Amino acid sequence: MRNDQPKVIFLKDYQAPDYLIDETHLTFELFEDQTLVHAQLILRRNPARGTDLPPLVLDGQQLELLSLKLDDRELTAGDYQLDDSHLTLQPAQASFVIDSTVRIHPEANTALEGLYKSGKMFCTQCEAEGFRKITYYLDRPDVMSKFTTTLSADKQRYPVLLSNGNPIASGEEEGGRHWATWQDPFMKPAYLFALVAGDLWCLEDSFTTMSQREVALRIYVEPENIGKLQHAMDSLKKSMKWDEEVYGREYDLDIFMIVAVNDFNMGAMENKGLNIFNSSCVLAHPETATDAAHQRVEAVVAHEYFHNWSGNRVTCRDWFQLSLKEGFTVFRDAEFSADMNSRTVKRIEDVAFLRTNQFAEDAGPMAHAVRPESFIEISNFYTLTVYEKGSEVVRMLRTLLGAKGFRQGSDLYFDRHDGQAVTCDDFINAMEDANGVDLTQFKRWYSQAGTPRLEVSESYDPAANTYRLAFRQSCPASPGQSEKLPFVIPVELALLDSQGRELPLQLMGEGAPVGIVRVLQVTESEQAFTFLNLADKPLPSLLRGFSAPVKLHFPYSRDQLMFLMQYDSDGFNRWEAGQQLAVQVLQELVGQTQRGDSLLLDPRLIDALRSVLGNEALDPAMVAEMLALPSEAYLTEISEVADVEAIHSAREFARLELATALKSQLLQRYQQARAASRAEPYAATAEQIARRGLQNIALSYLMLLGDAEVLAACEEQFANADNMTERLHAMAVLVNSSHEAEKSRVLAQFAEQFKDDPLVMDQWFSVQAGCSRPGGLERVQALMTHPAFSLKNPNKVRSLIGAFANQNAVNFHCADGAGYRFLADQVITLNALNPQIASRLLTPLTRWRKYAPARQAQMREQLQRIMAEPALSPDVYEVVSKSLA
Ligand code: TRP
Ligand code: ZN
Repeated sequence: MRNDQPKVIFLKDYQAPDYLIDETHLTFELFEDQTLVHAQLILRRNPARGTDLPPLVLDGQQLELLSLKLDDRELTAGDYQLDDSHLTLQPAQASFVIDSTVRIHPEANTALEGLYKSGKMFCTQCEAEGFRKITYYLDRPDVMSKFTTTLSADKQRYPVLLSNGNPIASGEEEGGRHWATWQDPFMKPAYLFALVAGDLWCLEDSFTTMSQREVALRIYVEPENIGKLQHAMDSLKKSMKWDEEVYGREYDLDIFMIVAVNDFNMGAMENKGLNIFNSSCVLAHPETATDAAHQRVEAVVAHEYFHNWSGNRVTCRDWFQLSLKEGFTVFRDAEFSADMNSRTVKRIEDVAFLRTNQFAEDAGPMAHAVRPESFIEISNFYTLTVYEKGSEVVRMLRTLLGAKGFRQGSDLYFDRHDGQAVTCDDFINAMEDANGVDLTQFKRWYSQAGTPRLEVSESYDPAANTYRLAFRQSCPASPGQSEKLPFVIPVELALLDSQGRELPLQLMGEGAPVGIVRVLQVTESEQAFTFLNLADKPLPSLLRGFSAPVKLHFPYSRDQLMFLMQYDSDGFNRWEAGQQLAVQVLQELVGQTQRGDSLLLDPRLIDALRSVLGNEALDPAMVAEMLALPSEAYLTEISEVADVEAIHSAREFARLELATALKSQLLQRYQQARAASRAEPYAATAEQIARRGLQNIALSYLMLLGDAEVLAACEEQFANADNMTERLHAMAVLVNSSHEAEKSRVLAQFAEQFKDDPLVMDQWFSVQAGCSRPGGLERVQALMTHPAFSLKNPNKVRSLIGAFANQNAVNFHCADGAGYRFLADQVITLNALNPQIASRLLTPLTRWRKYAPARQAQMREQLQRIMAEPALSPDVYEVVSKSLA
């Protein structure tokens, strides 16, 4: 903990390590009140850095050094220097061995970084810089070592002892203890180290790789969760097959293990051969996990598995290169999910998420490039920009190079860099070399922050039969970056005739049309393209599939958007047209609200959604996506100054008008879907998920009407559903309704039924935290004292406090500023317990510039109050100080 001048780390200062660690031999003696860690490190001077012998500076934090040896010589206090984060000593030869013993306290570790206890089990989280809280080490990803790990613990409490690689020996000790030794044959950086000790059961299976090797698969959990693993196991096997088929990548060890833990800062971690997962990303059972949770498990299992190549076999040189593994791996898992489920729906969900959240980050005080230039605390840079925008950058590469060229590039990248720690430039170079292209300008996506704005205007010349699209790109200033150079923006497009047919595309200078869907490359700040031989003025379908992470502006009329909603052959752009139409209509309602005019919903939105609802040929998942109005958070993001109440009431007004006008169709769709649901047992198939999605959104609209008939249907769904997707949604719409008696009854019944299942209780907290009815803050404060709540569990913090601050705008932004004060109080408490979680929880307060002056002042006041705290962690310090700068 520090408050004075935290150190800023710069990419430009990178230097290769002075020393290398060829072998790492660790022994952990795990006890209830302490853990002893013995480390034997086989070191040598890095030949790339010279032949002199500079001091060796090992990282280490919160370690109690008990003994230290250099080549069998016991060192005493004068032989080395210790400060709160380093151990420095002077080697006498180019090759040497260091033996250390330290004492650590996993049982008191609430930060959940390094070695800690989750419930009754020991586990680790070392990425990014947690290994230094385990032993003195060169804790940086470009130092790769061969690890051998021995664990010893009480046999009864900890019958299962796991680490990376293969088990090579085990035995009993006196005093009821036992031990096991694991060896990982692959060189790896310390951030991929893991150990687990606990009373765990496992689901076992196996996978035969493409070269006919048998791999044992094991998913470990606490005994009560053994029945919730089949979905994760199925997802793992699908991921392994997919990576062989799509990327030619085979798994390399003889065993692959996943362990589920309840207390975890993020989603999951790709430790070599021993992935550790937040239980929310592994456990799934129809009765306790929603469809969304099933899909998340599938995606996260795939993500961590894919890291075995994109992250572990080829790792990062330094943490500025984080997107090298994360952006690429998110892209890989998104494509996997698209192949397993509906491609269009997956793309819609990802784009909506990116535009709502990453665009907001890119416009805020923590904005940074996909490859940041500097940081204070690397944990703060596991961001939407590094992950989601990083994935968009990889997607653009595939769009530009084509699927085949992209695969050639990834093959070259993996072959060339297997076993190495590399940079984003190495990735791009492999893509360039495999395709014979120059991506110099494209690399600006890695170095320039901010969301580009792309304005498009059209002109049609009826005499010449030509149609011209003029593009103008710009990018707002970001912290530390005032001027931006033009990006390479791939714009996938088609031109539609009056029947919605795609027209042949012939650009000026071309002898003949080249296809009906094309990718234009906008590379200049202003650039125009002229299409030939168009007998009538076409309607452009622009940026198909969201081919670049930009804010596109084209002056579509509402009638044109309605046309595109119906006729665009690109499913994504049909949805997008509907969203743009809804945004126009909602912004008009926001204006009416602010002026105090009576509200009038453009009937075209009703007509458009009526025909969507009536379209039996359309995938029900698409119908559901198109019925969903842009979220309050997205409307906030695209506002110059966000008016929280006006956005909420305008959107609620539109929902009520739509429900009223479309009641009979909504009811028909609802009843049809619910009947199908009753007739067939739950399965997490794309078809059923689509049906339930439509059923649930129909129910949300219908419940706005306050009808007895609908209330009865909702209660029926809550009471009789055989799955959490229907049950939870029925509860959520009741909670957001004015049926007070029914609401209390279902909340109590649900809590009674699921009180022993922490992941279900998380959902119970979330539903209430997100309820926009008056009194939200008081409800959340009351729930903080509920026996199932704990500030020490990150899932609980996210599901109650996080859901309140991020998904309940009207209550969080209540006029007296009490919501802000509440959040700041929690951040201050968490700063001492778990700095990573504290810093993430802060995000909504960092967005103060979006609001009117009175709110800005209240939000800043809370940031200043946090800033004045005496012992701020670097995590919280960095976010608060940048937000106030
Ligand atoms: N590498 C992890 C992933 O797959 C991220 C992660 C897990 C992480 N736990 C963490 C990052 C703790 C920082 C701190 O995305
Ligand atoms: Zn990852």
